[in-house]
Amino acid sequence: MPQYLSLLTADERQRLARLAFEDLKHEFLLTRALCRVALSSYTDRHPGTWVFASNAYGRPSLPPDDPAAHLSFNLSNTCGLVACAVASGRPIGIDVEDAARHHEGEKIAERFFSPDEVRALRALPSVERHERFIQLWTLKEAYIKAKGLGMTLPLDSFSFSCGAQQASIVFHDVDQGDPGLWRFRAWRVDERHRAALAVKCASAGEQIAFRISEVMPAVHRGRWGLLCRDTPEHCGVAGKAAMDEAMAQPASEAKAPTWYSWTRGT
Ligand SMILES: CC(C)(COP(=O)(O)OP(=O)(O)OC[C@H]1O[C@@H](n2cnc3c(N)ncnc32)[C@H](O)[C@@H]1OP(=O)(O)O)[C@@H](O)C(=O)NCCC(=O)NCCS
Repeated sequence: MPQYLSLLTADERQRLARLAFEDLKHEFLLTRALCRVALSSYTDRHPGTWVFASNAYGRPSLPPDDPAAHLSFNLSNTCGLVACAVASGRPIGIDVEDAARHHEGEKIAERFFSPDEVRALRALPSVERHERFIQLWTLKEAYIKAKGLGMTLPLDSFSFSCGAQQASIVFHDVDQGDPGLWRFRAWRVDERHRAALAVKCASAGEQIAFRISEVMPAVHRGRWGLLCRDTPEHCGVAGKAAMDEAMAQPASEAKAPTWYSWTRGT
């Protein structure tokens, strides 16, 4: 942890000091270290050298004059999990949620989701509704975060339909552009956590290759890198994954990760 602290700017250290609880401090420090080391894994830069800007809605990004500004990233955290998504040359958003926390799912959906989503949720057998609610929640949040507009984008201004093979989006107003440019992926991280990713393509026919890894920022022989653990089912093409299958798979039956690797250090 002192090594993570060494990566923070003075401003980030002040934010850390203002946090009242140890678990929040831990989460903040881990999020900052993860973001910095993840970005460095795509460049030769030391993780302590990144400087961030943020838009009017609080979305952090690299400043436009940074030579690595083509890298877009997004962060999400929930109790017990921190996530960082990185893309090159396209907007990206990620959301992670603790599935055990949202017991009032149907009421929340009725209040905030689109009528189509509420109808689809109600049509499911009651035992499947909670899982589908979390899937919709994470997808909606990932999309909002990729857009970077925060909660100014109403949650009922777009709908997700989650089929056997993929999730797709429909817009209920014209301002949100072409829905065919968006690719989504939702998955079960472990027994407790669910995640979703949203990426905007440059053209409707484009396919996005993605890789999802469990990582830990670490120092090895004085160089920062990510200790990674991939599983084969976590690599593929966004939108083509068997989403329902992935969401339904009990964590106990999930294939055990088979190898560890170390990203090149900086
Ligand atoms: C800011 C918001 C962007 C995400 O909030 P959240 O779900 O509470 O938090 P997450 O952990 O997923 O994401 C937080 C991170 O997103 C990033 N972020 C902040 N503002 C952002 C924005 N406008 N766009 C994208 N990312 C943003 C930041 O990195 C932030 O972490 P940091 O403050 O440690 O740097 C926004 O969507 C929000 O307020 N959501 C409220 C939750 C809600 O009602 N969701 C309903 C979903 S159905």
